[in-house]
This record gives sequence, C-alpha cells and structure tokens, in this order.
Amino acid sequence: MNNPNSEINTSQHHGNDNNKSTCPVIQAQGIKKVFEEGDLNVEVLKGIDLTIEVGEQIAIVGASGSGKSTLMHIIGGLDDPSSGQVYIDGNNLFSLQDKKRAQLRNRFLGFVYQFHHLLPEFTALENVAMPLLIQGDKPAIASAAALSILEKVGLKERSNHKPAEMSGGERQRAAIARSLVANPACVLADEPTGNLDSKTADMVYSIMLDLNRDLKTSFVVVTHDYHLAKKMDRVLTIKDGMLQEL
Ligand SMILES: Nc1ncnc2c1ncn2[C@@H]1O[C@H](COP(=O)(O)OP(=O)(O)OP(=O)(O)O)[C@@H](O)[C@H]1O
Ligand SMILES: [Mg+2]
Repeated sequence: MNNPNSEINTSQHHGNDNNKSTCPVIQAQGIKKVFEEGDLNVEVLKGIDLTIEVGEQIAIVGASGSGKSTLMHIIGGLDDPSSGQVYIDGNNLFSLQDKKRAQLRNRFLGFVYQFHHLLPEFTALENVAMPLLIQGDKPAIASAAALSILEKVGLKERSNHKPAEMSGGERQRAAIARSLVANPACVLADEPTGNLDSKTADMVYSIMLDLNRDLKTSFVVVTHDYHLAKKMDRVLTIKDGMLQEL
C-alpha cells in the first residue's frame, strides 16, 4: 500500500497467478460522496473505510437509498468520490489516467451491475467474452471460456441470444458470467440475484463459493437476502452514510 504511484504496480505478482496477490484487493479510505441537486447537497457517504482482503467474502445490506450502489461504483472505479482514496492491489485508482484505470479494473475486478448493462447488439456469448477480448485474448479462446462459464450458469442454450431475447433472470446470469470470465481477483456484485428464483440464486452462489475456494476470489455482494448474507465472512451495512459491521 505504500506505492500509490501513477503506474500500475504489479510487483506483488508472481508468474501465472491469475491476478491474485497478497496485499488487500481493495482498500478504500475516507470515502465521501456528495450529490449536488440544485441548491441541495446530499451527502450519501460520509467517510467510509473498507479493506477487502484476498479471498474475503463480504455482504453489504442496507435500506434502499442508503448508498450501497454508490459505494460499489466508487470502489470499482466507476465513479469518483468527492474525497477519499481507493487502492486496487496497492494502486491508487484515482491517481491513474482513465486508460490505466480501465486496465486495472479490467484486470482485477469483475462487476455485476444492479441493472445488468449487457450490450444490446451483442449475443450472450459475445457479451461474456468481452472482458477477455478487451484484455487481448484471441477470439477463439475468449469464446471457449465464455461458453464454458455460460454453461456453468445454465445458459449454454441461450448463448446466441441477444439480451432482448432473454428473460430478466437469464440476463442477470449472463451478467454474472461476464463478471467471472476473466477470473478477477474481486467480484463486485450489486444485487446479482434480485431477479432469480431461489434455486437459480443458490446455483449462482455455489459457483461463486467454488471460485472463492479454488481461486481465492474475493466477493463483495450487495443483497437484501439475509440468509445469503449470513453465509459470508462479514456482513456490513450502510447507515447514515457510514459503514457498520453487523
Ligand atoms: N447520480 C446521482 N445524482 C443524485 N443523487 C444520486 C445519484 N445517484 C444516487 N443518488 C442518491 O444517493 C442515494 C443513494 O443511492 P444508491 O443508488 O447508492 O442507493 P442504494 O443503497 O443502492 O439503494 P437501492 O437498494 O434502492 O439500490 C439515493 O438517495 C439517491 O437518490
Ligand atoms: Mg442500489
């Protein structure tokens, strides 16, 4: 963490380690977020510190509007905080130029958005293969990996469908497959099973737990499902702009 330089720090990495290292995957310090609405300033996050270790599973619960998605976007580098810092594998995310920041995100993080954000003009297979294509994998390799993970989430038969031709739950599973395909160090999932029946949700979580066990993938999952939250290493909640351990 002592090296918040402007280049991506890969010094902790060793060989073909699939993006895993020993320093915290994500460390957020003093995160504040103020939304300005006309004359009104709404302070949604009031100084949040959060460290996510390699292999850690964290659930974030909390009332609607409490700032869960806002926090996820900031620790995932999708939105800037009003103040505070985020380090991804020791790299100061907000000191990097956009291109380097995108590279770091693509390499270390998988993101499942609250609203799936699949690209409408591409098939499920192409959507899932996208993170691998962006990082420069050959199309045949990316497609094979995408098909394999689509099969795991039960979508092999839908791989050539575009999002508009899929159900809400199928889209959500495709988005989950996309977040996992590049074997990220940490998956940030914002209500990933909100549209799924309990059996399908359990299937998705068992895939996540397998990855956690086999590859030490860290997970931060926003959920309203306390049954699931209790299975994670830590349960956090956001209340009055602050993070609390439950
Ligand atoms: N771009 C924005 N501009 C202004 N206010 C915003 C913006 N994004 C979020 N907010 C406000 O910040 C607060 C937190 O929103 P956020 O989406 O983080 O909540 P949440 O905890 O994810 O809620 P939910 O459980 O409903 O998804 C809300 O009051 C929301 O209105
Ligand atoms: Mg939300």
